Amino acid sequence: MEYVHTPVLLEEVLQFLGPRGKNELMVDANTGEGGHSYAFLSRYPDLKIVCIDVDNAILEIAKKRLEKYADRIYFYSGWSNEFFADYPSELRRPDTFSLTWVAVFSTTRRAEGVLVSARMNIWI
Ligand SMILES: C[S@@+](CC[C@H](N)C(=O)[O-])C[C@H]1O[C@@H](n2cnc3c(N)ncnc32)[C@H](O)[C@@H]1O
Repeated sequence: MEYVHTPVLLEEVLQFLGPRGKNELMVDANTGEGGHSYAFLSRYPDLKIVCIDVDNAILEIAKKRLEKYADRIYFYSGWSNEFFADYPSELRRPDTFSLTWVAVFSTTRRAEGVLVSARMNIWI
């Protein structure tokens, strides 16, 4: 399968946001085709990820791509704020949160990737 999206700042996020302990949980709040999640799951064998996307068709593509890691993924089809508002009781508190999007600038017509990621130190 050919994927449309190239994961932005991939090596950087893999290095800086990789797990610091065992069995960490990451939230990929913009899973898209699953490029970032795939890279994290393949590099870090005990990392678990919540894969969220509001677009169910693209989440289905991610599910296929991430099939071999399915036992370490919790998929959620919907808006990320709704996921957090009704956080599943069976999941532990997440350690890392990642959000990506692509902006198209009207002056240059160039698409630029932007990635916002953070390790979570507070959980209210
Ligand atoms: C640029 S793609 C992410 C690509 C992905 N990181 C990868 O490496 O393949 C952004 C995705 O975020 C989803 N999205 C945007 N805002 C969202 C939100 N608030 N909640 C859930 N999904 C959202 C879009 O449907 C889209 O599929």
